[in-house]
Order: sequence, then structure tokens, then C-alpha cells
Amino acid sequence: MYRSHNCGELNSSHINTEVTLAGWVQKSRDKGFMNWVDLRDRYGITQLIFDESRSEKSVFEKAKTLGREFVIQVKGMVIEREAKNKNIPTGEIEILVTEMTILNEAITPPFTIEDETDGGEDIRMKYRYLDIRRNPVKNSLLFRHKVAMEVRKYLSDLDFCEVETPYLIKSTPEGARDFVVPSRMNEGQFYALPQSPQTFKQLLMVGGMDKYFQIVKCFRDEDLRADRQPEFTQIDCEMAFVDQEDILNIFEGLTRHLLLEIKGIEVDKFPRITYDYAIKTYGNDKPDIRFDMKFGELNEVAQHKEFPVFNAAELVVGIAAPNCATYTRKEIDALIDWVKRPQVGASGMVYVKCEADGSYKSSVDKFYDQEDLAKWAKATNAKAGDMIFVLSGPADKTRSALSALRMELATRLGLRNPAVFAPLWVVDFPLLEFDEESGRYHAMHHPFTSPKPEDMALLETDPGKVRANAYDMVLNGNEIGGGSIRIHDKKTQELMFKYLGFTEEEARNQFGFLMDAFQYGAPPHGGLAFGLDRLVAILGGQETIRDFIAFPKNNSGRDVMIDAPSAIDEKQLNELHIKLK
Ligand code: AMO
Repeated sequence: MYRSHNCGELNSSHINTEVTLAGWVQKSRDKGFMNWVDLRDRYGITQLIFDESRSEKSVFEKAKTLGREFVIQVKGMVIEREAKNKNIPTGEIEILVTEMTILNEAITPPFTIEDETDGGEDIRMKYRYLDIRRNPVKNSLLFRHKVAMEVRKYLSDLDFCEVETPYLIKSTPEGARDFVVPSRMNEGQFYALPQSPQTFKQLLMVGGMDKYFQIVKCFRDEDLRADRQPEFTQIDCEMAFVDQEDILNIFEGLTRHLLLEIKGIEVDKFPRITYDYAIKTYGNDKPDIRFDMKFGELNEVAQHKEFPVFNAAELVVGIAAPNCATYTRKEIDALIDWVKRPQVGASGMVYVKCEADGSYKSSVDKFYDQEDLAKWAKATNAKAGDMIFVLSGPADKTRSALSALRMELATRLGLRNPAVFAPLWVVDFPLLEFDEESGRYHAMHHPFTSPKPEDMALLETDPGKVRANAYDMVLNGNEIGGGSIRIHDKKTQELMFKYLGFTEEEARNQFGFLMDAFQYGAPPHGGLAFGLDRLVAILGGQETIRDFIAFPKNNSGRDVMIDAPSAIDEKQLNELHIKLK
């Protein structure tokens, strides 16, 4: 038996018990005649004491050779501590050690393994297994496990069945590039790793599984950001004989259950807004609604005066930053520089101070009188003490710049409180989006998404206007899930591929199996997938998903611990029929 207890469970009720513990040496304090060692494992820290007068000589001396991160096993008696530590559960006791075995020595770790570490990001990624010994990382992994267990419980109780789908597949279009795997047995042919199990879950519906879910790895070769990894995990779900309303209700239920079980927070029914409303009101399709600052469109009240910049703009739009009328000239200038950065892309910014006495002071006083500015305040819902910031230019670009400013201001004003949760649904996404680069329409969600029946006719005349039965779940400004009702008949699916610019042959080659399946009695079906990493990170009060993944990739998609990707040898290349240039 390596241990009778773990390092987090002993307390004063165990005094005078003989115990065996095993773990890592966090630190030791040598006072000459007395030596204290903090012994750590996943469950906590227990203080060991080696005392010249009470411990055996050999044990006492061996304790002096212990270095940080040595793995040891000790036997001893639980005794009451003199100097108690109220901050940890084991703080009332210590172990007077009678026997000790060094199970493994350790060289000095490259950074301190404590909650506050001196190790930078790169070094901690390289030695991730050491980082995992630290509470913040370990606790994130335990937290992730808890969320995943709750998801499994909730869905299983509702009769969802977890089915594993293959990883070596044919390309599934989710809008990113595929990672491909060469086939040794099929020269010149490749598998693709799934960007999602989309087609398989639809085939499971044709197979009559009725309610499917899977906590599953997905792979996408795309540029990385804080909320994106090349391999990530989805809670992937699909149901037969459902309409959009059924799906929204079931998965709203799941999210509500998680908020309650994991965070102890009860939330009301989720608001639902349309994609068009989201874009017009918040400038993006994943609005953070923990705070207000809704967009106010000002074309009507700001154009046709003497200000040429606004007159020439497609859109003039503003937001009221709460209690910011006190901003100094310097602060305003810094903010103007901020919106002009290429990542934000505004060409300039107009401001209006809403003074406490009800008057207005703006950077465009030359062109607008108090009555004009009062109309701006009304449109942006500005109160006395607020500051209105106004951008203008091409509609899409201006909206996304103002959206970035809205988020930045909210962060500066402390309005993005990670302890507050504001989920919502965004519905009625467009079916298609025009891609300037290729000069054609792409599926905004994926090509299996069903158009709204009432918009079908528009496919011929105004494809950009067709709405889809597609929805996203948004939490605190992050898209945590998305899905749609699917096309379930061969004819409509064929038509969709045609609108997306596939030739009949291309469609047949890539998705013949799905369209064939639709001929054998496919039930109406739909579903969605949550990003588990994102969901866990946000529930954990953060937005960087890397912290919640045991072995993440860095920003260049590399695993710096195992050094992947890496070259493979000539023999392996030959077997795979690959010639490097
Ligand atoms: P979608 O592409 O919207 O839908 O993905 C679903 C959710 O997965 C998460 N996600 C990611 N998380 C981390 N890193 C990434 N690179 C990444 N990409 C996506 C997001 C997103 O909301 N098959 C469809 C679902 C369906 O229609 O049922 C799909 O994959 O949180």
C-alpha cells in the first residue's frame, strides 16, 4: 500500500493515527534540529515534521537530502501543529515522520511549482506536466471534468446516447482547412481528420438513433486565437423529429443546468435575438449583453447638416459610454488612436459629452447645435454624465469597429464581470454569405443547413437574403455553440450544392453517401454543437481556452513539449508514397 490517506484529507480528527502518505516535496524548511517538509499531491498539502529529538537519526538525516519535487513515501503519526494554518484544510495537524522512502529524486524544476510561479508561458508549455502540478492548471482540468460529467449526466437522463464516430474520414466542410492523413495502403489518397462529426451524426439519425451526443475531438487548420485551438472538443448533439424550437429548449435546459450545478446561478429564459438585430444593435453576431451600450443609428439626425464626413458616410452610428463625460482630452485622444489602429480600422471618431446640467459639448459643435445633439443622445440612450462616441463610414466596417470599441470600453469600465452570466440565442442566420475572394456564395453555417421554407424562393433572386434555420448560443460575448435544422431530402440537398457552386460530379464525389442515405427514409432532424473548451473557460471566468486544455498547442499550432509537428524519416515517407520537394 503506497498510502493510507492523501495529502488533502487529514485534520484534527485524525490526531494520534498512524498514516502513510506519498507525494512531492513542495518545499522544506531546515531549522537545524527541526525540519519541516510540505508534501503535495493532487488533493492538497500536508506538513511533515522531522525532529532531531523525536525522529530516528537515519530518517532525520535523510530528510536533509530532500530536494524540491522529490517523490517520497512517509509513515508517521498525525500530531497537533503548534503554529496552525487556517488557510488550508490540513492546517491544524502535521505528521511526525518515523519512516521515509525516497521513491524518486528530481532535478531542480525550471520554475517554481506554486500558485504564483516565476515561469513564463513558453517554459510552462514546454514543461506542461510540471505546470499541471500547480493548483491553477490542475483545478482547471478538474473543473473541465466536472462540466463534462454534468453534460453526460444531463443528456443521458434525456435518453441521448453517446456514439463514437471515426476520426479518419473524408473532408467535412465547416469553413476551415482540413488536417489530412496520408494512407499507406492507398497510394496518393488521404483521410481528413473531422472538422466536426457533422455528416456522421446525420447518418446516425438516418440510422434511427434518435438522440445522439458525443464529447468529441474536432480538428481545424485555421489561424489561432485565444478562443481557438487546432484540435478542440465539441459537445456534439443531434436529434430526429424536432424543429428549431425543440432544440433551443433542450439545449437551453442543458446550459441552465450547468450554470446551476457548476456555478450555483439561476438564469431566466434566454433572450432570443435575430442575426440582423444583433448586427444592427451590437455590431456583431455574438454580443456581450452583460452591459447595455446599444448602438444608436444617427444617419437621420446627423446627416444633411454641414459636416461633410457624416454626409458622405453610408452609416453614422454611436454608443453612449456610461459615466464617461469626465474623460479628459488626453483620454479621448488615446481612445481615438485606439479606434484608428488597423485592427479596429476607424478613420476617426466624434464625441459628445453629456454634461450633468443637461447640456452637450462635442467635437463637432461647429456643425451641430444643442437640439441636434439632444437627438443623438436620444438615439444612443445617453444620460447626463455619459459620453457618446460616434463612428462613420461603410456600414459593415463601421459596425465592427464600433463593436470593438464597445467591448474595449466595457473592459475598461469593468462591465465584463466574469462572475455574471448572460446567455442568449442568436437566430435566423443568413443561409449564405458572399465571399469576395472567390466571388461566390458560401454556406454561412454549413451546406447541410436548411433554408427557412418561406425564403426558398429567394434562392433564385436574392440568395444573400435567404434566412436559415440556424442558431448560435452566445455567452458573455462568446459563441459557445451553434447548429441548425438540416436538409433531409436528396433533392433540396442537391439544389443546395448547386447554389454553392458545386458541380453535380463534385457534389456526388464528396457527399454522395449522404444524399444516398437521404433516399432511404431520412427523418427530419437537427442539432447543434457546443465548444466544450470555450464553455468550460467561460464558466471558469476566463476566455483563454488553452488554460483548460491539458496539453494545448501554442499560437503557431505547435506542441512545444513533444515538439510536434516534426519531420518524419525517409522510410516512413516512402511507405506513405510521399516525396518531399
Ligand atoms: P461550429 O463550427 O459552429 O458548428 O462549431 C461549434 C462550436 O465549436 C466551437 N469551436 C471551437 N472551439 C475551439 N477552437 C476552435 N477552433 C473552434 N471552432 C469551433 C465553438 C462553436 O460554437 N457541425 C456544426 C454543429 C452543428 O451544426 O450541429 C459545427 O461544428 O464554440
